[in-house]
Amino acid sequence: MNTAPVTIAPTSIDSVDSEIGMEVDRRRNFAIISHPDAGKTTLTEKLLLYGGAIQEAGAVKAKRAQRSATSDWMEMEQQRGISITSTVMQFEYQRHLVNLLDTPGHQDFSEDTYRTLAAADNAVMLIDAAKGLETQTRKLFEVCRMRSLPIFTFINKLDRPSMSPLELIDEIEQELGLTTYVVNWPIGTGDQFQGLYDRRQQRIHLFERTGSHGSKKAANTIIALDHPEIKDLIDPHLYQQLLEDLELLDGIGGELDLDAIHRGKVTPVFFGSAMNNFGVELFLEAFLEYALKPTPHDSDRGAVQPTDPEFSGFVFKLQANMDPKHRDRIAFLRVCSGKFEKDMVVTHARTGKQMRLSRPQKLFAQDRETVETAYAGDVVGLNNPGSFVIGDTVCVGAKRRYPDIPSFSPELFAYLRNTDPSKYKSFNKGVSELQEEGAVQILLSTDESKRDPVLAAVGQLQFEVVQFRLNQEYGVETYLDVLPYSVARWVVDGWEAIEKAGRLFNTLIVKDRWSQPVLLFKNQWNLDQVKSDHPDLRLSPISIPPS
Ligand code: G4P
Repeated sequence: MNTAPVTIAPTSIDSVDSEIGMEVDRRRNFAIISHPDAGKTTLTEKLLLYGGAIQEAGAVKAKRAQRSATSDWMEMEQQRGISITSTVMQFEYQRHLVNLLDTPGHQDFSEDTYRTLAAADNAVMLIDAAKGLETQTRKLFEVCRMRSLPIFTFINKLDRPSMSPLELIDEIEQELGLTTYVVNWPIGTGDQFQGLYDRRQQRIHLFERTGSHGSKKAANTIIALDHPEIKDLIDPHLYQQLLEDLELLDGIGGELDLDAIHRGKVTPVFFGSAMNNFGVELFLEAFLEYALKPTPHDSDRGAVQPTDPEFSGFVFKLQANMDPKHRDRIAFLRVCSGKFEKDMVVTHARTGKQMRLSRPQKLFAQDRETVETAYAGDVVGLNNPGSFVIGDTVCVGAKRRYPDIPSFSPELFAYLRNTDPSKYKSFNKGVSELQEEGAVQILLSTDESKRDPVLAAVGQLQFEVVQFRLNQEYGVETYLDVLPYSVARWVVDGWEAIEKAGRLFNTLIVKDRWSQPVLLFKNQWNLDQVKSDHPDLRLSPISIPPS
């Protein structure tokens, strides 16, 4: 544990003399990763409340879909014509401009979260204090680790019976191998929860339940640790415990290492109760101080600085049917450099064509606003009449391409069968468009006689949405032949390595959209078996886009 209380200066600025430099410097962008029910919707609302983006919490209801049954979800999809997937919320707080990249609440759509993490500069790992680390959080944490994202931990629901704070910290350190840096520390939990000690400012924030789910900002009583009436304000036993805990934390030592935080090696840890608006502002203030501002992005022409005057960005997400009245598509573009301006003409790097970016939008829940300008770290919604696929780069000036966004191992596989051969063309068009949109991964058999695509998904709902949309949008009725596999691995050294390996037991060999080999295994045990039989066969849980 890395614990010494240190106050640091705001992140330094390299080139603030230009307009672009100043805009980049004040931007911070992040996505929240969590297990369903940990309080992501609640925390998002409260951050927006403190950021002044909403006046009263309760405005982001649409994201509550994770607890809906499939049928409710479908109905919702039909009624609103909206997919329950992420948008981006922007707000200003003090001198910063914050972009919160929202991710779907339903874990069946976590592929969407993986891609959103490709556009994020920081991640906030939200944990339920009663449950500790849960499966979905662990999975998403691994994706953050692969991307070396800085991770900020917010431990929520302290107003309810919780695991002990030390246990929670220990779990993060031991199970995720992540060093913690405690920024604030709880005084009691559950019915006994009395407040937080803020180690940055060395002060106590007294807890008050807000009532009405904290729709308004909480009152904030702040006192010094040696306040003369402390024993009247805090239970003496808990106060004593706090002093002991602080001694322990200080004893373990360690400096605040901002560089280690930015490399994703150390996580600053915060406690609080999002529902009661408690600890949210403390978190936001420290987060903005410690978080990574937009950083250089690797491209085929080397690293591109966010302050590079030539505009560039990449598409990380496509979204169909955002507006029920117009069955439209939006491409979400993460700006990586330069200044985005409405109606600007850019080069579409994959096709080499010039295109005008007209009607760019900022989407906030279900409202839209036209974007006039944007800078690195921002996300812009572009109208996409079929021009973009996920991973596309657009730029001005010297042509460059950002790397493709990899796919992560799906867990469910099924042949998708078309019931009506006369609809062959619509079927193929629908499958290919839904793949490009990232609704599902498509794998193909290596056996030419087996033409039906293999749908590969992270969750069952993805299958259902694909079938539903093929029916509604392309007029094609389909059925699924479920395959008995649950793990996919990409073969790092390609087809040659497969040939060299010879017979692979209990494995199905298929190819991905780049015709690269993918192995499907029934379970982890089969995968381990193949690994031990073929130690030279290098396998990857994420796809390897061609360079
Ligand atoms: P999610 O998006 O991560 O799935 O979680 P969400 O915010 O929807 O929160 C899940 C449940 O946890 C909600 O209760 C929410 O009110 C509750 N919750 C969130 N933060 C806190 C907290 O700090 N303390 C306590 N005690 N509860 C919290 P629900 O009963 O499922 O929904 P609702 O009726 O409250 O809306």
